[in-house]
Amino acid sequence: MSRLVIDGLKRLHGETEVHGSKNSTLPILAAALLCEGKSLIHNCPDLSDVAGSINILRYLGCEVEFSDKTLLCCADDLDKNHIPDSLMREMRSSIIFLGALLAKTGSASMCFPGGCDIGLRPIDLHLKALSELGAEISDDHGIFRCTSPNGLHGANISLSFPSVGATENVMICASVAQGTTVITNAAREPEICDLADFLNSCGANITGAGEGTIIIDGVNRLQGTRHSVIPDRIVASTLLAGCAATGGKIRLDHVIPSHLGAVLSIFSECGCDVDIRGSSIIMDAPERLTAPKIVRTMPYPGFPTDAQAPIMAMIAKSRGTTLFVENIFENRYLHVNGLLRMGANIKVEGKVAVLQGVDCLHGADVEARDLRGAAALIVAALGAEGKTTLSGLKYLDRGYEDIESTLRSLGGDVRRI
Ligand code: EPZ
Repeated sequence: MSRLVIDGLKRLHGETEVHGSKNSTLPILAAALLCEGKSLIHNCPDLSDVAGSINILRYLGCEVEFSDKTLLCCADDLDKNHIPDSLMREMRSSIIFLGALLAKTGSASMCFPGGCDIGLRPIDLHLKALSELGAEISDDHGIFRCTSPNGLHGANISLSFPSVGATENVMICASVAQGTTVITNAAREPEICDLADFLNSCGANITGAGEGTIIIDGVNRLQGTRHSVIPDRIVASTLLAGCAATGGKIRLDHVIPSHLGAVLSIFSECGCDVDIRGSSIIMDAPERLTAPKIVRTMPYPGFPTDAQAPIMAMIAKSRGTTLFVENIFENRYLHVNGLLRMGANIKVEGKVAVLQGVDCLHGADVEARDLRGAAALIVAALGAEGKTTLSGLKYLDRGYEDIESTLRSLGGDVRRI
């Protein structure tokens, strides 16, 4: 089993690019199912979650080629509408294929994705919204089957929570439904806007993405298109956190700074000098960070839950105390054990965690238990005295493309063995 070995306290410096967004690529690959002809998707990251989506597309009968960050997908020969358990288990976010499969073939079935380490991950909002579009859903011993015997029709859908995945499933499905769909309390994440841009360039008619209300006028068909995926704002946040944990100075290129608003304000509160220049961010961190008062995760544009773990790791050595409130997932402090082994001072009580900055962290043997927790342990190791060994890289590889090479190019001592 491979592990990362990190020798800490090397100041990160230099510049690097941020790869394409995992959480934008996955729904766009699902939407490509709906199109006639070929779609070319550029700036796709090479991640195991993307590989999982490609396996599903190929299983369903699509032609998929992926090389040098460009993915070609053609669903003209699609001949299945069931996703087997093995492929669902490989990637629980495969629920995002539901709306596309239903819209494309009139029926779709897959096993309940089930929870993961960070939470139960229910799909009630997805199923309720799709049934309002005309889907009939039955539960057959853990396999749910969706059909649309009378076709799919527009509806007024009000989400009780601005679920990213549920918003995406509805956008995809409603883009070819008969009539108009209005989603209120829709998710506003940048990945929602990127999906809308992709669908509109395929011929869909979607307005309001990025705001709380999205209007989708159904069209008869979607045509494959060319699209370039937005940069990954969570990878950008993670690299900045790694820099700040070492008192370093780096420049990130090919980012969209406006996607990082809530995160950059935390870096500034910690005493980092953040300079935005077009599609680059230059960040100069002080020798020791000042602990921000509170980090409260919220739906976008609030502070992103996916950045909570890397930011907690970054401020483990700061001066002061930080209150964390994790409002999105019920079990997203799995990285705390590893941080405690490295000498951090953190108390967790339900969705609240209180971090007391310590003077130094020391390297340790730690194990990742989820994707962003893996990133957090790397950030802490970069700022720790001595050597850290990180196992559980299967989680890391879901969302970070070759992060060890990126960190080495910035002066970090990080090796995969
Ligand atoms: C997306 O997950 C992202 N994944 C997550 O990133 C991200 O943390 C999350 O959005 C929030 O921003 C992808 O885009 C592939 P939600 P998603 O539906 O769509 C509850 C990462 O690290 N909920 O907005 O699953 C749910 O339990 C991953 O890259 C329901 O109750 O997130 C959670 O508490 C982790 N019922 C909250 O809503 C539902 O039907 C937010 O979930 C759906 C969700």
